[in-house]
Amino acid sequence: MEEELIQIKNSAVSLILDAKDKEELWDLKIRFLGRNGRFTQAIKELSKLPKEKRPEIGRLANEVKNTIEETISEKESQVTKQRGRELKEKIDTTIPGIRPPIGHLHPVSQVLYDVVDVFKSLGFQAADGPEIETDYYNFEVLNIPKDHPARDTQQTLYLDTRNAKVNPGEIILRTHLSGMQARTMEKIKPPLRVIVPGKVFRYEQVDASHGFEFWQVEGFMVDKNVRLTDLFGIIDYVLRKLMGEKIKIKFATTNFPFVEPGVDTYMECTVCKGKGCSFCKMSGWSEIMPAGMIHPNVLKAVGYDSQKVSGFAFAIGLSRLVTLRYEMEDLRLLTNPDLRIINQF
Ligand code: DAH
Repeated sequence: MEEELIQIKNSAVSLILDAKDKEELWDLKIRFLGRNGRFTQAIKELSKLPKEKRPEIGRLANEVKNTIEETISEKESQVTKQRGRELKEKIDTTIPGIRPPIGHLHPVSQVLYDVVDVFKSLGFQAADGPEIETDYYNFEVLNIPKDHPARDTQQTLYLDTRNAKVNPGEIILRTHLSGMQARTMEKIKPPLRVIVPGKVFRYEQVDASHGFEFWQVEGFMVDKNVRLTDLFGIIDYVLRKLMGEKIKIKFATTNFPFVEPGVDTYMECTVCKGKGCSFCKMSGWSEIMPAGMIHPNVLKAVGYDSQKVSGFAFAIGLSRLVTLRYEMEDLRLLTNPDLRIINQF
């Protein structure tokens, strides 16, 4: 037995010292000290020895076990250190790391944030509304009854309502954000200053300056004595803040059923610097901000007294503003999935 224990110790120690890594050491530990290991099996014979021999062999067995365990743990720290040294040789810790690519805001979002900031500085609050809209808010409340020809200018996308409890044509994708004037005014009493950024949808022939899904920012202000000159002042101030002091702006009369009078704001085309190009349809000017004084019928429809308060409303063609700011000659570039385009902003 004594001899066997010494043999176990010698062979364990020599194998441990030859081990190359932690896995090998773990295997050896099981081979010798595990439940079916050589050492464990050997000491099972201890009880068969004559009584007087047992203490001596017992001490030897302990010593063998300790030696195996210590040798394993010493060898383990040795291989760990060795591995560290090897890695250090392979890894150059002075090489700069690889920067993970970081995304950024889409140009439409960048300009939108700027628009919101400018209006906030003028005391406007931002509101949000549904993209799926009713005929009532998109048209009816805005002084555009069912038979009004102005409906033709808003190429409307109708939702299939065959299984809904509404009349056909009642539910649509909003073609503009002006319906939010009524939705907001029904909830809040004047005075109010509100902007509503959002996406609108039209069944439209897509070209360099028209999309079928695009961004607008609707805005409106209602108070005592709000005048057309207030509207001109705000448009002038906001556009210069957003597009630079040097831009050229002009106003023209126009007609929208929900405003009276109606105003069209044009900005000199930045793509061609006023010379005429496909973006501005060769006119040198781009329609950027239609507006007007809110029609008394709209104020009445939401329960305001049009004798006591007045207001103006406007819409910024946000997608168009983005293309004009960055002098992009085509609106469609904004939704092009090629990241080389978007990464330039
Ligand atoms: N909602 C109109 C459109 O998208 C634009 C517009 C015109 C909005 C005049 C207004 C406004 O607030 O006063 O076709």
